[in-house]
Amino acid sequence: MTSNARPNDRNALWLPYTAARRFAVHPRMIARAERCHYVLEDGRRVFDSISGLWCCPLGHGHARIAEAVQRQMLDVDYAPGFQMGYRPAFDLAARIADFAERPDDKVFFVNSGSEAVDTALKMAIGYHRARGDAARTRLIGRERGYHGSGMGGISVGGIVPNRRAFSSMMIPGVDHLPHSYNRAETAFTRGQPAWGKHLADELERLVGLHDASTIAAVIVEPVAGSTGVLPPPVGYLERLREICTAHGILLIFDEVITGFGRLGAPFAAQAFGVRPDMITFAKAVTNAVIPLGGVILAPEIHEAFLSGPDHLIEFAHGYTYSGHPMAIAAGHAALDALADDNLVARAASLSGALADTLHSLEGTPGIADVRSIGLMAAVDLVPIPGQPGLRGMRVFEAALDQGLYIRLTGDTLAVAPPFVAEEADIRQIASQVQAAMAAADRVH
Ligand SMILES: Cc1ncc(COP(=O)(O)O)c(C=O)c1O
Repeated sequence: MTSNARPNDRNALWLPYTAARRFAVHPRMIARAERCHYVLEDGRRVFDSISGLWCCPLGHGHARIAEAVQRQMLDVDYAPGFQMGYRPAFDLAARIADFAERPDDKVFFVNSGSEAVDTALKMAIGYHRARGDAARTRLIGRERGYHGSGMGGISVGGIVPNRRAFSSMMIPGVDHLPHSYNRAETAFTRGQPAWGKHLADELERLVGLHDASTIAAVIVEPVAGSTGVLPPPVGYLERLREICTAHGILLIFDEVITGFGRLGAPFAAQAFGVRPDMITFAKAVTNAVIPLGGVILAPEIHEAFLSGPDHLIEFAHGYTYSGHPMAIAAGHAALDALADDNLVARAASLSGALADTLHSLEGTPGIADVRSIGLMAAVDLVPIPGQPGLRGMRVFEAALDQGLYIRLTGDTLAVAPPFVAEEADIRQIASQVQAAMAAADRVH
């Protein structure tokens, strides 16, 4: 314990993406993390059904990663990445490119998903400029997209509460595709909905409106995660790829959630058989033990920057902690564990149990939709009339009493269990949600 003149005081810390006043009255304090469970300060033991924040697929307290990080601390604790190199970072970049089955690609390291997104957007604009196409600055995101909290990410993102206060500060010239969710057409679909491929044609409309010569890149999450697990309609990502290729627009997949096995393939790009020009990643790359993110990019994007005198920096961008040795060590250990324990295949094999469990909720009063793909799923609750988000919050809190930690966004509950979770824990989620809903409905 660190010394603190104000023991048990929670006043000084402002938590991210947290309803602060509600938290002050209903604090939810984590004391310990044990494999696939958290133990709260009040003693409640809860199943970590969302892998922390979609980021700990190997569970907590992973010995191999912990040992690698401990060793690293006393070996090279920090190595500057500007004009200097550190061998394990090059090795991890190569491993990640191979894991993505893009052996010729480059990898640029950052520290978070938000930084990965802003980096990819800058690369896209810089790439076109370097090729003499400087008018291509427009970026296309998608409604209901989440791309982190940076100014680039919220500009291309499509979550209204994250954007509304900052509209005058966002990147100019951004436009958005419509989101791909339609409850009337697709409610309770397992996997990819058959309906909705035509929504990708909206990109042709935006190209018609703005002209391809002004558009640098399109960025989408292959499966929108944070706004409630929205799998892409069959054929949708393929169609986006076709349109981007036809018009010289770069396609970026934001795989901060889907990367490193969540869909039962190394990346969503492989799961869907669609090859974007760039992939952003973070979270699971280190099992979240030490922050690390990055961008995987096609070699021609990198090559376009390589002009001018060779002693000058080609891409004036980076972070003090890009390729931090501690994160690199955690990344190697996490990739070792994924491979040696065959965990991507395990994620795939558990996905049926997750879907069966969650879809068994269909027909439960108060549940409006269930969606699932790979080892991720979401449940939409019917909101309390006039009070959006309140039912979700009550169910989220009540679920902790049922031994379940779940991800809450408005009235949507999301789950993405660790790949090392027991099937029995996964199969229990539906009854825990039902019990939480019943308890929440008793609250007045
Ligand atoms: C798709 C996607 N992109 C970017 C981010 C931002 O990542 P970070 O919170 O590490 O900045 C997230 C976080 O959930 C995400 O889901």
